[in-house]
Amino acid sequence: MTIQKFHPFRSKRNTCFLVIIMILLVISCFNTYNPLSNFNNLSMIHQEKYLTYLPHSGFHNQRIALENAIFLAWFLNRTLIIPPLLMYKGRALIPMYEFNKLYKGLSKIRVCENSGQEDCKAEPYIGYKWEELMDFTFLNQNIKYIYRQDFNYTNLIESLHIKNDNEVHNITYNREQYCDNSLSTKNVFDCVNLADLSKRPEKLLHFGSLFSSLKIITTLPKNTNFRNKLRQMLLPNNPTILSIVNNIVDKIGGTDNFIGVHARLGDGHFSRHQDMTVQNLVEKIQNDFKDIDDYNAYLPTKIFLATDKKNSKSLQLFFQTFPYVYVLDDFDDLLKPLKSLKNPIDGKIMYEFLVPFVDLLVVSRGNKFYRTRSSTFSRYAQHLNRIWLENELE
Ligand SMILES: *[C@@H]1O[C@H](CO)[C@@H](O)[C@H](O)[C@H]1NC(C)=O
Ligand SMILES: *[C@@H]1O[C@H](CO)[C@@H](O)[C@H](O)[C@H]1NC(C)=O
Ligand SMILES: *[C@@H]1O[C@H](CO)[C@@H](O)[C@H](O)[C@H]1NC(C)=O
Repeated sequence: MTIQKFHPFRSKRNTCFLVIIMILLVISCFNTYNPLSNFNNLSMIHQEKYLTYLPHSGFHNQRIALENAIFLAWFLNRTLIIPPLLMYKGRALIPMYEFNKLYKGLSKIRVCENSGQEDCKAEPYIGYKWEELMDFTFLNQNIKYIYRQDFNYTNLIESLHIKNDNEVHNITYNREQYCDNSLSTKNVFDCVNLADLSKRPEKLLHFGSLFSSLKIITTLPKNTNFRNKLRQMLLPNNPTILSIVNNIVDKIGGTDNFIGVHARLGDGHFSRHQDMTVQNLVEKIQNDFKDIDDYNAYLPTKIFLATDKKNSKSLQLFFQTFPYVYVLDDFDDLLKPLKSLKNPIDGKIMYEFLVPFVDLLVVSRGNKFYRTRSSTFSRYAQHLNRIWLENELE
């Protein structure tokens, strides 16, 4: 191959090229003085593309969906529209449905619960911001995002100045997965290549559910690193909650003095398997500590037990087997600051919504963690426990 040098005046074509460049330079010079030059910036703004999705289920499902959405916003270079966080005093009420049914359910959430009135308790509360609870530093560094205050589609479209249905692409099929590498997609059901998704011209990509740890499958290091960093940095950081957690951990005697156990027993599948869940936990702990004592001797270590059903009959076995078991109720005096913690936006007392986060963080601060299988709370506590223990070692 011969390398051709660029000789500006050697050929007619090159002269022509040079003339064009000079004309362009002159135009761009003029443009600085041209009142219409702002037009370029304006059209840039209108080129901004967005993506959003529909939340459902409990906090941890919503957190996983948010992580997926953040990755997609980064990968697809779209501004993320973060939907309201659904919070409940008890069980999560809005399960995963397909797009239209989920939208209908969400758009019916009445605002009375969100204005301090207590007469429609069944509604999820949607007035609290993610950023009150979680550290958004990583988001701020990597993506653009805005918030949505409700689930009214008309409001959303109008706020984005979308006038035509063909500027929106609804992804109504819940089972879709997204992969960054077509080679890895052989065994994955319905894997959509992310490169194809990035070609979509619509101003708004509107997903339904983005829940599932397998929703996005990355194999390229750049993408996997982004997701790992995100998971390491999108952590609970509410100062009131963290200070309560520190006080409780101190009172138990510090990380070195206890192990954390999570027993999810309250609903559906977990409710039907209460006995088995507790029995498995007991056996696992006994097994791990059996070389310290003989099998029947009690475990000398302290245990913090996080559970969503503290009066479950199945737990009797646990309390009978281990003598030093603490639950959150034992630290009621230390929870006092949470009882007056308000949402700065509407003044609502957040105690009942936030108390599970104290449970989550305390249980993850032990020197070991035992989980309930297929619980997203457990999986997150385990993740936090690893991060906590790694930081302790540093
Ligand atoms: C990302 O999108 C913005 C518009 O929102 C655009 O100005 C920018 O060039 C895009 N970046 C890349 C790498 O495509
Ligand atoms: C959604 O918002 C539009 C425009 O603000 C309003 O006319 C409509 O009644 C709202 N829909 C619901 C279900 O609240
Ligand atoms: C997208 O979904 C919304 C809400 O269900 C619906 O009103 C709208 O017509 C859909 N748009 C398109 C282009 O399918």
